[in-house]
Amino acid sequence: MLKKLCLAGSILFCFSVIFPNCQPNPYREGERLYKTHCANCHMEDGAGLHALIPPLAGSDYLKNHRQKLPCLVRYGIKDTIVVNGQVFAEQMPGVATLSEIQIVNILNFVNTSWGNQIEPFRLEETRTLLEKCRH
Ligand code: HEC
Repeated sequence: MLKKLCLAGSILFCFSVIFPNCQPNPYREGERLYKTHCANCHMEDGAGLHALIPPLAGSDYLKNHRQKLPCLVRYGIKDTIVVNGQVFAEQMPGVATLSEIQIVNILNFVNTSWGNQIEPFRLEETRTLLEKCRH
């Protein structure tokens, strides 16, 4: 009995070593997508770039405009916005190829990184918000 359990346990262990990606980790997926699609402007540490790119680290916009965030990622934004008291007016392109769940994972990565503590997005909420801005 014990032998069988050990055998089963070591087989499972081997699988998790060989196929670590079979256990998807939403935070890591969000981080990977952030690095691919967002970090070249907002920087890996979320600091933004002077007066051109607003910060995501400690951004009050994330809290104050929660409902806009899924659409902002998908379709971009060209507006005059205020982030932590500073005005920004450059254009951000959207990433139209991201799926709903990928948008959830990016936003939750942003919302819980660099000291940010914003309530996570769920798929349902994100889907409803995206429907409002479908082009
Ligand atoms: C080409 C540069 C660029 C890329 C790439 C980019 N952004 Fe932006 N982002 C901007 C700019 C510029 C603004 C300000 C737009 C405005 O003033 O209308 C902005 C604004 C924002 C805001 C609202 C303001 C704030 O700082 O909280 C969020 C949230 C945001 N971006 C998230 C993202 C995410 C997530 C990605 C990746 C999917 C991304 N951005 C990719 C340039 C970029």
